[in-house]
Amino acid sequence: MTKAHPALDAFAFGRFDLRNRFVVAPMTRISARADGTPTPRMAEYYREFAVGGFGLIITEGIYPDARHSQGYLNQPGLVTDEHVAGWRTVVDAVHDAGAPIIAQLMHAGALSQGNSYGVETIAPSAVAPIGKPLPEYGDVPGGWPTPREMTAADFDEVVDGFVAAALNARSAGFDGVEIHAANGYLLDQFITDYTNTRTDSYGGTVENRIRLTARIVAAIQDTLGGFPVGVRLSQTKVNDFVYRWPGAEADAKVIFGALAHADYLHVASEGRDFIETARFPSGQTITAVAAEVAGRPIIANGGMHDLAQAADVLNGKHADLLSVARGALANPDLPHRVAAGVAQTVFDHAMLMPMANLECADLWRRGTAQ
Ligand SMILES: Cc1cc2nc3c(=O)[nH]c(=O)nc-3n(C[C@H](O)[C@H](O)[C@H](O)COP(=O)(O)O)c2cc1C
Repeated sequence: MTKAHPALDAFAFGRFDLRNRFVVAPMTRISARADGTPTPRMAEYYREFAVGGFGLIITEGIYPDARHSQGYLNQPGLVTDEHVAGWRTVVDAVHDAGAPIIAQLMHAGALSQGNSYGVETIAPSAVAPIGKPLPEYGDVPGGWPTPREMTAADFDEVVDGFVAAALNARSAGFDGVEIHAANGYLLDQFITDYTNTRTDSYGGTVENRIRLTARIVAAIQDTLGGFPVGVRLSQTKVNDFVYRWPGAEADAKVIFGALAHADYLHVASEGRDFIETARFPSGQTITAVAAEVAGRPIIANGGMHDLAQAADVLNGKHADLLSVARGALANPDLPHRVAAGVAQTVFDHAMLMPMANLECADLWRRGTAQ
């Protein structure tokens, strides 16, 4: 008899009582209406993961304010009453199918590829991003512009935006919010040495670089009481797969220590598998350091559809939960497949081309079904 996979074990933390350890990782699908309102098709999309057995769903990155935060055209927002009503339909569909759902709140900063509010990009410092925009998320002719350095007023706009969006998330019925401080977007631009050259209390030391993220978590908690707030972090970025925190484990201890007031920490491996990005020179994994320093539940990410790797991460106590992105797109019923011993469909990037939206994925699906 084969032994059940450890990811199928239940896991409880705070107000969550998860049926298993499989989490749908946040995935931007640029499928909202032009004004950022989620659609009924998005409700179906998210519901499919809940029906497929996932223990928890984290949404795509949602923009929190109607100024500088939007990263992509057709990205959903959590700003207006229409946004809240659209998300309520999504949340209800997921809850009906038995899974909790967390809203990921994302400020794109310098990496915006489209902003319907027609403003310039802002960032910790006026440093042009490296790398190239992603055409399947909307082209940026000439590449990303050099952002404007954030002023004190911008800091208030950003913090207030995250708090207002968290209030809207709670109104829409979400079970919590996740602050996106990973993958090269605004909050990660603060953490990263080459995009943050500030000399005030938000630049320089690692303590200063993580200050804005920690401040946002605290501001949400002050306003929303016990509403769950997680944080997503990463060393790699959508525009830089090789970046590592310069101080390695020492930096990690400062970063995770500053976020010990969050309800969970989620460590992403953008563009790479966990196994390639997670080990520090000391041999410790980034997620184990996070657990030790913050004492919070930890979500590991990066190639977790590889069941051997997933079992190693859980059995080795490197994390409590596993988030799956590409593997979930290919297998919205991944937990059911694992339980039944059914082989997985291999992810095909063609489903995100020419645009990474649900319409192109639907066309691709029909094509491959013929
Ligand atoms: C289509 C797509 C969209 C993504 N959008 C987001 C996003 O909105 N927020 C985020 O934190 N990560 C995003 N990611 C990164 C994934 O959450 C994940 O970290 C990465 O794909 C590695 O995990 P995997 O090996 O399971 O695919 C996206 C990934 C994909 C494939």
